[in-house]
Amino acid sequence: MAMACLNLPALSPRLASGGGAAPGRCSVPASSVRLPRRCSWRVAAVAEDPPQAVQEQRRTEGSGEAGAEGAADASSKLVLVVGGTGGVGQLVVASLLSRNIKTRLLLRDPAKAVTLFGEQDESVFQTYKADTRNAADFDPQMFEGVTHVICTTGTTAFPSKRWDGDNTPERIDWDGIRNLVSAMPRTIKRLVLVSSIGVTKYNELPWSIMNLFGVLKYKKMGEEFVQNSGIPFTIIRLVVAEACIQALDIEFTEGQIYEISSVKGEGPGSDPEKWKELFRSAQSN
Ligand SMILES: NC(=O)c1ccc[n+]([C@@H]2O[C@H](COP(=O)([O-])OP(=O)(O)OC[C@H]3O[C@@H](n4cnc5c(N)ncnc54)[C@H](OP(=O)(O)O)[C@@H]3O)[C@@H](O)[C@H]2O)c1
Repeated sequence: MAMACLNLPALSPRLASGGGAAPGRCSVPASSVRLPRRCSWRVAAVAEDPPQAVQEQRRTEGSGEAGAEGAADASSKLVLVVGGTGGVGQLVVASLLSRNIKTRLLLRDPAKAVTLFGEQDESVFQTYKADTRNAADFDPQMFEGVTHVICTTGTTAFPSKRWDGDNTPERIDWDGIRNLVSAMPRTIKRLVLVSSIGVTKYNELPWSIMNLFGVLKYKKMGEEFVQNSGIPFTIIRLVVAEACIQALDIEFTEGQIYEISSVKGEGPGSDPEKWKELFRSAQSN
């Protein structure tokens, strides 16, 4: 499957209901290689487990080597999350907090952070107000001590209320990313950017429909800016939407729960037969 490191998810049906979606796991080691490598999705059955954030927390809390490593890791990171009030961003923030990793949120409305994450200890959770469309909003102070950045900003692909005030894909996925990356100190150890599947094929169906108002084109421009920035980066292209659409027509997915993680190799793209094979292989694993 051709998802450019593209860390493509492995789908694993859960045998019982409940539990949140586990974040994708990439089997490809981090490296400074600038060209995206190809990974793929795999389907495998798993027994009902607690949500991954909980498992990770338990590992960190556990005694012995793994626990000590986790604690050291948590204390050495300060992760700046941009877009932490969104669907993906909230999961990222909750997961960071559950691991006791110091987290800083950059967001348009700091009051939202309290609503979503409650009152938090300021030594582990801070908020800064910024609209990524405005380069002047990026105060160098926001990056003080920051070791890693995760950006999950975005808006709807088609015109909606959320575009009010010119908050469009062009302004967020292109201007916003450019402003963020330009403001980031070059000492950042890693920038993880959440993007979308289809950015390399936005002139082809079905992606051209999604791209009618340019969202995939602007995401690709944002990705390229990140790739050329010299900052160590990881780009994650979400394929959740494609998995949902494919599942509609695959009967044996009924009653199953799937998780997405990443493995190396070719992926299914939007080929229904390949998706069927992936879902089926999960049943038999
Ligand atoms: N969810 C999926 O299935 C999926 C699939 C493919 C790709 N993606 C991509 O993955 C990313 C995250 O998706 P999501 O579903 O979590 O998105 P989302 O729920 O729409 O969240 C978007 C986030 O971006 C923030 N944001 C918007 N405009 C901003 C601005 N001008 N300045 C600062 N922050 C701004 C929003 O903050 P406010 O609270 O201030 O609005 C919110 O926190 C997006 O790029 C999306 O396109 C998602």
